[in-house]
Amino acid sequence: MDAKISVLPGDGIGQEVTTEAVRVLNAIQEKYGHRFEYEYALIGGCAIDQMGTALPPKTLDLCKLSDAILFGAAGGPSWDDVPSEERPERAVAAIRKELDLFVNLRPIRGRQALAPVLPVKADLIGEGLDFIVIRELAGGIYYGEPRGFVKEADGERGFNTMSYTTREVDRVVRASFELARKRSKKLTSVTKENMLESSRLWREVAAKVSLDFPDVEIEHILIDACAYFIIQNPSQFDVIVTGNIFGDILSDEAGALVGSLGMCPSASYGHTNQGLYEPIHGTAPDIAGNGIANPIAAILSAALLLRHTFNLNNEAAEVENAVDRAIDKGFRTVDIRQQGLKTVGTVEMTDAIVAEIQQDS
Ligand code: IPM
Ligand code: MG
Repeated sequence: MDAKISVLPGDGIGQEVTTEAVRVLNAIQEKYGHRFEYEYALIGGCAIDQMGTALPPKTLDLCKLSDAILFGAAGGPSWDDVPSEERPERAVAAIRKELDLFVNLRPIRGRQALAPVLPVKADLIGEGLDFIVIRELAGGIYYGEPRGFVKEADGERGFNTMSYTTREVDRVVRASFELARKRSKKLTSVTKENMLESSRLWREVAAKVSLDFPDVEIEHILIDACAYFIIQNPSQFDVIVTGNIFGDILSDEAGALVGSLGMCPSASYGHTNQGLYEPIHGTAPDIAGNGIANPIAAILSAALLLRHTFNLNNEAAEVENAVDRAIDKGFRTVDIRQQGLKTVGTVEMTDAIVAEIQQDS
């Protein structure tokens, strides 16, 4: 198959891990005889430095024309002082909005082999921890207007607006029901309906959509309780759907549960197979440029790309299995470092994964 993939490494460790994800796609391409055509473009702080804007129109046009986008991360301390509407992170929000990628899948999978590095008791994870956070990605407080700063008598006020429309909730909840239907037929909708009108509406719409999915059980819980249960009893969850900011926060929390954010990929899409694939960890400026970042989140994002955009299920599983085998063989990056096992860098970890892909016949 021929495929057009935009590659947007971005800033910080985004650069390092995206390079490795492309190496893995190349290994798949060779093994299965596909043809992936990559086009590279700038986004984030590096785009501000080179083109004067975090999301150059050329980058956006390229993304619109491609089947899939492999993205690293954007932002970093060098751009802390730019005005908020020009920040590198706004480019990430803008690209999600422009492509109308309203579903953001963040699969959370615990691995037995990483039990010793978990911040929680390993028996909480067992073999069973495997759930998905679906974060609404094109609406909510990150986009709400009005927003800004105003001067006040005794200082300044910064403000944002959280809002959701019936349509915005309907489409992401519907997509979540579709997914839950293919899994364990249980969907958890997470809001703060006891305090927020946008959440009240969310719950009402979710309840209404649920009537179209009588075979799927829906549970409504509050965000604070959900944050608690993710640590206290995570295996009760299978598919969680929630708003933009809640999903942003819950997915980082869940990342800690499986040992490291460095293991957590994501896929974002709308009504078509076009998708944007990115690790959820961000730019990690503290370790950027040292060659020690964990490439697995980016590599697993590439697996999601194969599965979601191109429907290459075997190829996606091949990548995921190769990651598991590399972990089982004891390869560890610094974020999942374990006594008695060798700590490797970004490139060596990918070497181990690529070797597994090449070996497996
Ligand atoms: C994420 C990140 C981004 C977000 C930032 C970098 C804009 O935290 O993908 O989770 O808030 O969505
Ligand atoms: Mg985040």
